[in-house]
Amino acid sequence: MYEDRRLRIVVVGSGYVGTTMAASFADLGHQVTAVDIDEDVVEALHAGDAPIHEPGLADLIERHAGGNLEASTVYDSLAGADLVYLAVQTPTDEAGNIDTTALETAARMSGEAIADQPPAERPVIVIKSTVTPPHVETIRAAAAAGAGDETLEVAMNPEFLREGSAVSDFREPDKLVFGTSSQRGDDMLTAAFEPIIEATNPVVIRTDPDTAAMIKYANNAFLAAKISLINDLGNICKEFGIDAYEVADAIGADDRIGEQFLRSGVGWGGSCFPKDVRAIIQAATAAGYRPAVLEAAVAVNAEQPARMLELLDEHVDVEDQRVAVLGLAFKPGTDDVRNSRAIPLIEGLQERGANVVAYDPVASEEMQARIPEIEYAKSAARALDGAVGALIVTAWDEFETLDDAFDAMDRQLVVDGRRVIEPRPGMTYEGLTW
Ligand code: UGA
Repeated sequence: MYEDRRLRIVVVGSGYVGTTMAASFADLGHQVTAVDIDEDVVEALHAGDAPIHEPGLADLIERHAGGNLEASTVYDSLAGADLVYLAVQTPTDEAGNIDTTALETAARMSGEAIADQPPAERPVIVIKSTVTPPHVETIRAAAAAGAGDETLEVAMNPEFLREGSAVSDFREPDKLVFGTSSQRGDDMLTAAFEPIIEATNPVVIRTDPDTAAMIKYANNAFLAAKISLINDLGNICKEFGIDAYEVADAIGADDRIGEQFLRSGVGWGGSCFPKDVRAIIQAATAAGYRPAVLEAAVAVNAEQPARMLELLDEHVDVEDQRVAVLGLAFKPGTDDVRNSRAIPLIEGLQERGANVVAYDPVASEEMQARIPEIEYAKSAARALDGAVGALIVTAWDEFETLDDAFDAMDRQLVVDGRRVIEPRPGMTYEGLTW
């Protein structure tokens, strides 16, 4: 029975990935301690509350808090653990380089907490944060220095969770990547994921830590570049009066291309693609190679909002006019506005002197904290009321059924960046790539 193989897992860092992982490991039956320096976060976990919004997560935390899931601000629990996950944020600087200062501190403190144990009894330290291959050694060295053991190993187990479906993605992964440098490390990671491996039989990739780190970047860079490529092709389609979605359906039927991530439009945002693509470009450039395709992927993505605004300009001068922005979250199903395409669009409208009125079913408050000076409407219908144009930025389902709400516009002009609106009689409709 699995109960016999219950592990003691410590997760350092209770951000988005750390919390999801801690609660999910607890749900698999492991004894988990979430360690975070933020007392509020630890308090919330103690109380059984989720510090972040993610479907299914609150339920897991409530169920396991005080049982399989404990929380602490100190590193004491590391000494008795089998596995220690480092899931600390790695912010980016202006140029796009990742800043591993906090992660290095966590690694060093983890090393210190296990320094007194005989090497064979120490927990296996695993990097979960996204770091470039050269940084794997930086983090390992920090942990080794803390432990006073230059030979200390650190494993890499990258994460492929999507915001909005992180809990189910954890439960049913396509693949697991175990980057280790010892059999013990591999055995420990295998034991941690055993219930998932048994239940869903994902592909398990066993490799070294640097390759595991690269797989994470290659995965996100490939997906981001795939979207930029379909956007590039979509822009060509628009010039020729061709529907890029019809083209995408056809090429997606080729197994070598695949049908997913071919939705062209205003581009990719969020906390992962923009950060990771820039970070791997920076790391590659520092190593002496400039990745031309990835640079182009970033450039195409940066241009899509401007193309949307150009389409608006073709029909109306928005100065002193009311313009609705529908959708502020970087994708549907989340209130996260980090790198949302709505930000450059709102800025572009402000530069044109427009009166921007924005609406999102869940992300208005988040955007208001960043851009307080525009109007936020309580519904899409209210945002559209009196507007001379509307930009569709996030593919929320509710935008598909706005119908009569468009009648209240001063001018029924819609520029759709996500292909969610069905054009109706009397509406001037521009699709970004169709
Ligand atoms: C992404 C990856 O999909 C995850 O596998 C990965 O673990 C995660 O980054 C991470 O590194 O943590 P996420 O940022 O949650 O996950 O969002 P996605 O669902 O991948 O969407 C990213 C962006 O691409 C969104 O702005 C979305 O609107 C856009 N997108 C996606 C398109 O423009 N077209 C598409 O066809 C698909």
